[in-house]
Amino acid sequence: MRSRLKFLFIFFVGYLSLSMSCAAENAPSVLYLTWMHDPTTTMTVHWHTTDEDRTSQVAYRKKGESQWQFKEGIYGALTKTNLLVHTVELHELEPGEEYQFRLVGKRGIYHFNTLPKTLSRPIRFVVGGDAYFYLSVLRKMNEQIAAKDPDFVVVGGDIAYTNGRRAVFKGKGWEIKRWRTFLREWKRQMVTSDGRMIPIVPVLGNHDVKASTLISMSHHFLFYELFATPEKEIPYRVLDAGDYLSLFLLDSGHTYHIEGRQTQWLKKKLSERENVPYKMAAYHIAAYPSVYPYRGQSPNKIRMQWNPLFERYHLNVAFEHHNHAYKRTHPMKGNKIDPDGVIYMGDGSWGVTPRKPKKLWYLANTAQVNAVCLITLSRDLGLIEAMSIQGEILDSVATFPTHAMVAWNEGRLLEN
Ligand SMILES: [Fe+2]
Repeated sequence: MRSRLKFLFIFFVGYLSLSMSCAAENAPSVLYLTWMHDPTTTMTVHWHTTDEDRTSQVAYRKKGESQWQFKEGIYGALTKTNLLVHTVELHELEPGEEYQFRLVGKRGIYHFNTLPKTLSRPIRFVVGGDAYFYLSVLRKMNEQIAAKDPDFVVVGGDIAYTNGRRAVFKGKGWEIKRWRTFLREWKRQMVTSDGRMIPIVPVLGNHDVKASTLISMSHHFLFYELFATPEKEIPYRVLDAGDYLSLFLLDSGHTYHIEGRQTQWLKKKLSERENVPYKMAAYHIAAYPSVYPYRGQSPNKIRMQWNPLFERYHLNVAFEHHNHAYKRTHPMKGNKIDPDGVIYMGDGSWGVTPRKPKKLWYLANTAQVNAVCLITLSRDLGLIEAMSIQGEILDSVATFPTHAMVAWNEGRLLEN
């Protein structure tokens, strides 16, 4: 009798641990949010499964509602794996609201917020680049970012360092393993104090694509399999948040040339948004580098092609990366220091070894430190701060909405 009881006990414990492990498998370890379209009324949900699990359906409801709504999406294969990337874009959400969602057939209920339609409350977001080089550094910085409860986070290229010459990372399937580690950490860490998932807004960097991509114009690589973009395999786009922010996300020559089609697109989109209060850009290679050569081919091209447009349409700030240091330039116009000009900030030191910045005429502040930029936008003032990996504010600069900048410029003209 005793041995029978023992057998039943072992059987029960075995069954329980098996069910628990199945339940754990049931909740995907890779689940992330991004935006293809209006961040006030949409949300794009991505998750990974094995290729037997083909259900791409999300149930969602506004906080306080009892009925779930359902949205069917699509899935695509991750090249050279048995994995699928699921994509469901939720539409017609209400601005400035909290939503719950779940993946149909899976455990777990998650939360996200849509952005408000107006700056009825301040918006906070983070921009940083050169993220997952060292896992330990990535994690430390992620912790500081999530502690600030941002509405979203822009990663300005070199997200998971999956292309380049560093043989140390290589092995079978090393690229997707690194991407999935990055995304797993994102799911685990990028949650606000009230349990809201923080969307990722990705931007391309040189280590996210193969060196030959631009030449061959073959865009079949992981970035596009992992992140949906409004137009298939076109990474440059503008994210318009309500009546207050247009964020230009650009490709600094990794899969599309800086000049030509992309610059024409940028000019058109900027000209259509002349009266948007806050206009900002994020891209990988710096026009005003703190470490790499000022006369490099890509910095030269960006200064020639994009900077005159940024100046003409009163961009508040351009976030640059790739240099592995922190920098803030003086306001720049016509390639000279000018109080009416555009500030270039960042330089990409999220999860890498920080380099020593040079002392250069256009740099107003620099530091050899792991840092990201923290942006807080309110109706009358935009505050941009540099935050270190210890969570300290290293530097800050104020920027103003377009109408205030124009009034200020007109005032200056009258004085003259
Ligand atoms: Fe880079």
